Amino acid sequence: MKIIVTGTAGFIGFHLARRLLAEGHEVVGIDNFNDYYSVKLKQDRHRLLEACPNYRLERMDLTEGDKLLALVRDWQPDVVCNLAAQAGVRYSLTNPHVYQKSNLEGFLNILEACRHGNPQPRLVYASSSSVYGGNTKLPFSEADRVDTPISLYAATKKANELMAHSYSHLFGLQTVGLRFFTVYGPWGRPDMAMWLFTESMLAGRAIKVFNHGNMQRDFTYVDDIVQGLYGAMFAPGLDPYEVFNLGNHRSENLMDMIRLLARTLGVEPKMELLPMQDGDVPATYADVAKAQAKLGFAPATPISVGIPAFVEWYRQYHGV
Ligand SMILES: NC(=O)c1ccc[n+]([C@@H]2O[C@H](COP(=O)([O-])OP(=O)(O)OC[C@H]3O[C@@H](n4cnc5c(N)ncnc54)[C@H](O)[C@@H]3O)[C@@H](O)[C@H]2O)c1
Repeated sequence: MKIIVTGTAGFIGFHLARRLLAEGHEVVGIDNFNDYYSVKLKQDRHRLLEACPNYRLERMDLTEGDKLLALVRDWQPDVVCNLAAQAGVRYSLTNPHVYQKSNLEGFLNILEACRHGNPQPRLVYASSSSVYGGNTKLPFSEADRVDTPISLYAATKKANELMAHSYSHLFGLQTVGLRFFTVYGPWGRPDMAMWLFTESMLAGRAIKVFNHGNMQRDFTYVDDIVQGLYGAMFAPGLDPYEVFNLGNHRSENLMDMIRLLARTLGVEPKMELLPMQDGDVPATYADVAKAQAKLGFAPATPISVGIPAFVEWYRQYHGV
């Protein structure tokens, strides 16, 4: 199949593209290689992809609507998978406008490009567990109301779902939104807790633990996310507008995750216990019954397997 993946220099887009390429699909990747985190890490991921003859990169920004439109019109992909976005809850408190550009204007350009495709591709796009905001009913279900985001990042992801709904309704565009729950694994993101904790622990520094460690997270291994993405891209029988949780369906205590990580690294963790951060939520936990039923989603990686795999990659990549 012919598939456009945006954000291929990023964590999840890289993993998805790598598997698609290995299975012989034709992939056009889109990324702007911005410096939100290490550009070298993005280039290193990209180098692995560009070694595949069935991969081509379009280095562009999602705000370049005309280029996107022409690409979808001329190349006629079967699926567009939009994983490029400005990620990060905390960064959205200090840099709101980049979220407006990449996540709202950029996403509108994706919708317009898909709408005008002939034939129209299926659009799969990243939403986020953060749309559940301050909801307290656990596990989070797609049937729950999500009208109270508590960060601009979350608001842009909820906006994407609303925008997709209108395009499905008006233009018959098949859209599938995926609410990812704290994704981790090899080639992960340097701004996320698992990476930050690993970096600090290896340097003998104290890790910053928010809400005094009283947090629960549904940690989802990246290979499981890729399996869910496959379902979203290829499953038959979906409604024109769909939204699914993709989580591990296990909510782990943050302190247990820290202990396991420290044990794997062979260190005694030093902790700086801090209050809750603005925009953050105390607990996430995904109900994945809908994704199981319609996408064949079957998360299979507990943190006891996923954390050692991340640490092994981290040590190898950094030579530490
Ligand atoms: N990793 C997680 O735990 C998680 C959780 C929930 C949702 N998500 C969402 O999943 C998607 C992928 O996340 P990720 O962890 O791979 O993030 P990432 O930051 O590693 O990847 C995003 C990529 O998109 C690119 N990009 C950003 N803005 C762009 C623009 N305007 N034009 C072109 N390229 C642009 C970046 O350079 C980056 O390579 C994002 O939409 C993110 O919001 C991720």
